[in-house]
Amino acid sequence: MPDNHVKGISSESNHPYTDFKEKMTYGDYLQLETLLDSQKRLSEHHDEMLFIIIHQVSELWLKLMIHEVEAATEAIQKGEYQGAFKMLARVSKTQSQIIQAWDVLSTLTPAEYMEFREFLGNASGFQSYQYRLVEFVLGYKTPHIIKIYEKDPPLHARLQTAFEAPGLYDVAIQALAKQGFSISQSILERDFSKKYEQDPTVADAWLEVYRNKDMYWDLYQLAEKLVDIEDWFQQWRFRHMKTVERIIGHKTGTGGTAGVGYLKKVLDHYFFPELWEVRTRL
Ligand code: HEM
Repeated sequence: MPDNHVKGISSESNHPYTDFKEKMTYGDYLQLETLLDSQKRLSEHHDEMLFIIIHQVSELWLKLMIHEVEAATEAIQKGEYQGAFKMLARVSKTQSQIIQAWDVLSTLTPAEYMEFREFLGNASGFQSYQYRLVEFVLGYKTPHIIKIYEKDPPLHARLQTAFEAPGLYDVAIQALAKQGFSISQSILERDFSKKYEQDPTVADAWLEVYRNKDMYWDLYQLAEKLVDIEDWFQQWRFRHMKTVERIIGHKTGTGGTAGVGYLKKVLDHYFFPELWEVRTRL
């Protein structure tokens, strides 16, 4: 995996203590001073600490998800399915952790949140570049976030690269073609920065895989790992939407959308549409 130095994404090789292994402590290794000095409340409000930490914890898990999905994508390209499955299983477990976070956040009442909401200005999870990177590496492309980060060229380049690269689902479709399934050329050679549109040749191929699972065991396993990830993703979206409704009702979001109305709409977005369609056709 290529290391990169984009802020907040990966910085292993920048570790300040790598040359001092003998003296290194637990706190040094984990850079706890930086980590634990990053919870700066803008209000004096007690509950803002929870609000900051819940977002930071989610961002850490998102970082791990990107790390695992990128490596799994590479492994599938090389035909190394077992390694990929292990990493994708870890992604699903990570998602289940992020979902648990909603239970903690639900202890924040609307009255408490309103007491410090104004301090957030226009900041919103909508601008989370790691969340968009997760969508990109899975293969779901929407351009609306990239422009926000034009002011930060390294990060912008990182987002743009992931935006244009084949995502996990594109690589899964390429794996179908490598196994001899007849996949439309327009899908195999598609512009990966465009939103993926459902395709009948892909749907037929997955149907064959599910009908002959013993013959196509690796592809069948891959399909189910993808469905796990999308299923968890939907559960995260649903819990987010319901928690938001519980805390702000139908007020507009700090990011400028309709709020709960917008979050309900994104529930209808599919990453791997044919894998859901196949369930009806089987
Ligand atoms: C009190 C807690 C929260 C409230 C009231 C809230 C509210 C909202 C609202 C209203 C939106 C729609 C965009 C906007 O207009 O702002 C949104 C989007 C989003 N929020 Fe939250 N949120 C909360 C907690 C979180 C947490 C803990 C995360 C974890 C990272 C998060 C991540 C996101 C993401 C990624 C989006 C974009 C979703 C998409 O476009 O599909 N939010 N949030």
